[in-house]
Amino acid sequence: FDVVDLIRVKRDRGALTTPQIDWLVDAYTRGYVADEQMSAMAMAIFLNGMGRDEIRDLTLAMIASGERMSFDALSKPTVDKHSTGGVGDKITLPLAPLVASFGVAVPQLSGRGLGHTGGTLDKLESIPGWRAGLSNDELLAQLDDVGAVICAAGAGLAPADKKLYALRDITGTVECIPLIASSIMSKKIAEGTAALVLDVKFGSGAFMQDPARSRELAETMVRLGTDAGVATVALLTNMNVPLGLAIGNANEVRESVEVLAGGGPADVVELTVALAREMLALAGQPDADVERHLADGKAMDTWRAMIAAQDGDPDAPLPAPREQHVVTADRDGVVTRMEALPFGIAAWRLGAGRARKEDPVLHAAGIDLAVKPGDEVRAGDPLFTLSADDDARFARALESLEGAYTIGAAGDDVETGGPLIA
Ligand code: URA
Repeated sequence: FDVVDLIRVKRDRGALTTPQIDWLVDAYTRGYVADEQMSAMAMAIFLNGMGRDEIRDLTLAMIASGERMSFDALSKPTVDKHSTGGVGDKITLPLAPLVASFGVAVPQLSGRGLGHTGGTLDKLESIPGWRAGLSNDELLAQLDDVGAVICAAGAGLAPADKKLYALRDITGTVECIPLIASSIMSKKIAEGTAALVLDVKFGSGAFMQDPARSRELAETMVRLGTDAGVATVALLTNMNVPLGLAIGNANEVRESVEVLAGGGPADVVELTVALAREMLALAGQPDADVERHLADGKAMDTWRAMIAAQDGDPDAPLPAPREQHVVTADRDGVVTRMEALPFGIAAWRLGAGRARKEDPVLHAAGIDLAVKPGDEVRAGDPLFTLSADDDARFARALESLEGAYTIGAAGDDVETGGPLIA
């Protein structure tokens, strides 16, 4: 095939055939198709979409670009979870050990954050000693022994997606249902999990603001998983307001530990419990008493074993910020609005996230909310605290928070964007 011909097909709203997609992905992975050509293709797909068969073919071709793992040798059922990403979304941290505490294997192969959404590995790396990189043998041994693993996805898993995702990130072609669905599902199917629960976000802090588009993304991913023999279900969840009270890295670990200790913010607990129920149902335990394992320490025991197995010290103090800045209420009233995206951007500007793949993250940087929409405040009460290593970062963070929250009068409508789980 000639790649220019294939670009013309998508440019002119045509459909690519299975052999054409197989060739394209293979040639791009090997470097025969140049980044500028693949960029043009990604933009043509972004603008003109893809049919169901093309999305399936693209997913299968990206799986075939690398290794396929298998957990068949394990004596336990496997179930994984994926979130499309949000602000304050630390749910994987309490969820993986909670589900594993019921004797299920949870292989959570994760990524790092780019832009305003945090990365699970970045959060866990605030725990002294903890390491994200495991060999396949270590991964299998830990699944057998502890049950829960959160680690870096190896370079061998869907390498075509790694290359394409990095390209999309710098060409304005991320927010595209066929490309997101094939990207996420190629990695999850190649990973070899038997079952998968998707947390698909909608709203201010999500890829797709519109719930109808998020639903379409969810349906596309569920179809891809099911067709590939992975039992897949999706929850649609609200990302209009930051999840929980902590946005950052070390502070999100702290909040996750509170949930594992039977406490924590109600929204984080609600989503953790809802996802755990779905995962356990797919693993054959529809009646598991999920709340009990949060209350009686079983989930916490698994968390501690999971962290220790990857050389982390679950009792070590987490990094503390050098500088803090408290933002207070300028009047009496009720918090009626807190928009997720600007809070995510502010945390990122404080150093919790990275602008380029190579950048380090500052583990102690971030935002701790003192209030959420619906809470009453008096003038002078703290609303949230910014943390950073350098107070020069506060001005830019505060700039992105201008207009991001509202204090109204008692009785005003509170904008939450709807129920947490739609
Ligand atoms: N996460 C991915 O892995 N891929 C996407 O395209 C978007 C989010």
